Amino acid sequence: MAKPILIANWKNHPNSLKEAQTLLKDLSKKRLLYKKVALFIAPPEPFLSIVAEKSTSFSQLASQDIPALSKGSHTGEITPEILKNFGVRLSIIGHSERRALGETPAQIREKVRVALRSGVTPLICLGEKEKDVEGEHFELLRQEIRSLIGDLSKSEIKKVALAYEPVWAIGKSADEAIEPNDLTQTVLFIKKALADLFGRAVADEIPVIYGGSVEPINAVELMKTGIRGFLVGHASLKGKSFEAIAQAVLSK
Ligand code: PGA
Repeated sequence: MAKPILIANWKNHPNSLKEAQTLLKDLSKKRLLYKKVALFIAPPEPFLSIVAEKSTSFSQLASQDIPALSKGSHTGEITPEILKNFGVRLSIIGHSERRALGETPAQIREKVRVALRSGVTPLICLGEKEKDVEGEHFELLRQEIRSLIGDLSKSEIKKVALAYEPVWAIGKSADEAIEPNDLTQTVLFIKKALADLFGRAVADEIPVIYGGSVEPINAVELMKTGIRGFLVGHASLKGKSFEAIAQAVLSK
């Protein structure tokens, strides 16, 4: 049985190297716990090397995006090769906070291809913007899945992972996160949509994780919904809360 997946999305935090070092020190105290999960840390780019240096014994490196660049010089950008050489093994692609900056489905598709070509696992984010109780978001999710990964080959699709992140639940608190029952329904729906596209056997191999206000208080229940793990934002910035979430991920 594959390990549950836990991804720390540090976004644009912390503000200083010193704080990043303190956080890494806290995490490393629990390295035996973290070794039991497939842990990835996605820090701001200036901290890639310090994270690589301090946490390789219990985690792998992830990036918060991957550039889809043509050959040539691109001031202000980094290349997939640089990420790869720093040890990045997974890239978060199509996060809603990047889409809010103008990233389009076409760019996301291109980034997925770049990641696959570079040997980096694309973690593709999808999710509806508004909270919906009528079930209309299911159709939106189906369209999004089709649009973002529908034309991948069977061998490519086996190398991707999906993060279901309802945009309305991101960056809030556990009270405002998704209800476990609703997540169970949505995960079933996503798996069915994947099976319709790629067949049940392939669909079952695609890891689907959840992100959006996962905190110690809701992590155990959310983990019982059929998901493979979590993409954690704000609660990954405190050693204690991230440790509790890692325990929850293992509790299933
Ligand atoms: P959050 O962020 O846990 O702070 O809601 C999750 C994410 O944006 O990936």
